Amino acid sequence: RFERAAEREDVSVGPRRRQLRPSPASASTMKGLANSATFINEPDTDPCLPQNRTWAMNVVDQKHFKPVSEESLVESVEALDSILKQARAGMKHWSQGKTAAERRAILTNVADVLARRRGDLINAMVFDGSKTFAEADAEVSEAIDFANYYGMKGEELPSGFEPFGVVAVLAPWNFPVAISCGGILSSIAAGNAVVYKPSHATPRCGEIVAECIWEAGVPRDAFHLVRCSERDVGKQLVTQSDAVILTGASETARLFRSWKHDIRLYAETSGKNSLVISPAADIDLAVADLVQSAFSNTGQKCSASSLAICIGDVYHSERFRRQLTDAVNSIKVGDASSISTVMGPLIMPPEGKLSRALTTTEPGEEWLAEPKCLDAHKDCRLWTPGVRVGVQPGSWFHQTEVFGPVLGIAQAKDLDNALEIQNGTDYGLTGGFHSLDLREIDHWIDNVEVGNAYVNRGTTGAIVRRQCFGGWKASVVGPGAKAGGPNYVMQFGLKTDKVKRD
Ligand code: SER
Repeated sequence: RFERAAEREDVSVGPRRRQLRPSPASASTMKGLANSATFINEPDTDPCLPQNRTWAMNVVDQKHFKPVSEESLVESVEALDSILKQARAGMKHWSQGKTAAERRAILTNVADVLARRRGDLINAMVFDGSKTFAEADAEVSEAIDFANYYGMKGEELPSGFEPFGVVAVLAPWNFPVAISCGGILSSIAAGNAVVYKPSHATPRCGEIVAECIWEAGVPRDAFHLVRCSERDVGKQLVTQSDAVILTGASETARLFRSWKHDIRLYAETSGKNSLVISPAADIDLAVADLVQSAFSNTGQKCSASSLAICIGDVYHSERFRRQLTDAVNSIKVGDASSISTVMGPLIMPPEGKLSRALTTTEPGEEWLAEPKCLDAHKDCRLWTPGVRVGVQPGSWFHQTEVFGPVLGIAQAKDLDNALEIQNGTDYGLTGGFHSLDLREIDHWIDNVEVGNAYVNRGTTGAIVRRQCFGGWKASVVGPGAKAGGPNYVMQFGLKTDKVKRD
């Protein structure tokens, strides 16, 4: 049954037996995740290994961080218009002037250049994006995999396939390298030109990504880097491109549609993800996975589990609560540039929903671990992880994506009640289930409403080709093919009836 579950594209099953991890979400755990599958990666950058410590410490040194250049700033609609025109011309050379095999060779080169610039990319993610070394290292691996995988898929496109034209790629700050590469390289593999706008919070990461892509041989006219802060420039990019890839909030996707109702939008949006823990679970593993799913990248992942739904006695179990509290309290919170840090600062001071989640509880809830701001004298970006128990179905915390280091715990009567709570949000991005009972696992798999279902493992850290990533319900806009999966590249063009003549 484990094998059967593992065969389903949308379900990932954790290993049957695992060694307990030395500490939750430790650097070596992340490295284990990064290198566990088809990753082609080297070098072995685990900073826990003494021989790599010097390399890692050197990489995360502020003195190697270069501020972003002003070159890519686009401040007027006229300037953007000219870039879009160049991209349109560039797309013709890229899609018609090169064979699919030539394009693939260039994407393979991108993978090589990314690997060579691993240190620069990690450095930029630490200082631009407040990522820890381990998270940033794993992210470079994912970007490399995207390059190799999408290169291969681009070569497999059917004859008569026509790219859309110019694709705008709007990348998020929480995965500024991997998600950027995912969007750019899939569109490019399909023969499109790309205008890439990195997040305003991680401009240096965007710049290095662009340098790698150009250096590998993607022509300048087919791939453009654009930083724009003016809303009218951004609006023009969204409305004048032939397709838009967005990773961001549902509200942003709605705004884009209000600008242009027939927009070709491929958006991976918000999630409110939970992990169900059955009395038949291996509680040690469930706690380790829960903590990693909730607090890796300081909870700033669309895939993060921000709710644990405990069935029956698990909820009150002394063992579960003690292990969870111990694990949470053992997380080393600190500056992202210290390589022993497990949970770094938030990328920006909390406001809105996150501020509410960190500072107040809702009726029926209380703190098992109350989050504390550790740098109140500065900008309050450094928080200890928070755990709130007593989350009520239908409550604000149950329904709201808070995107930060706060985990809620809710109680369910039985598995069906847990599924009701888990499915009872607008979203459907990731979901997890911990149980060693095979009938329960089957029942859960058949009834959970998420794009990515994870059994006996955490809910973050999808792996290209092995666990392609994408949502369901309000977590996705567009056709919904999954990133890192077989149909992703193909969705960035149309199959026409025209017969190609060589
Ligand atoms: N792909 C990431 C994950 O799986 C989220 O974007 O965690």
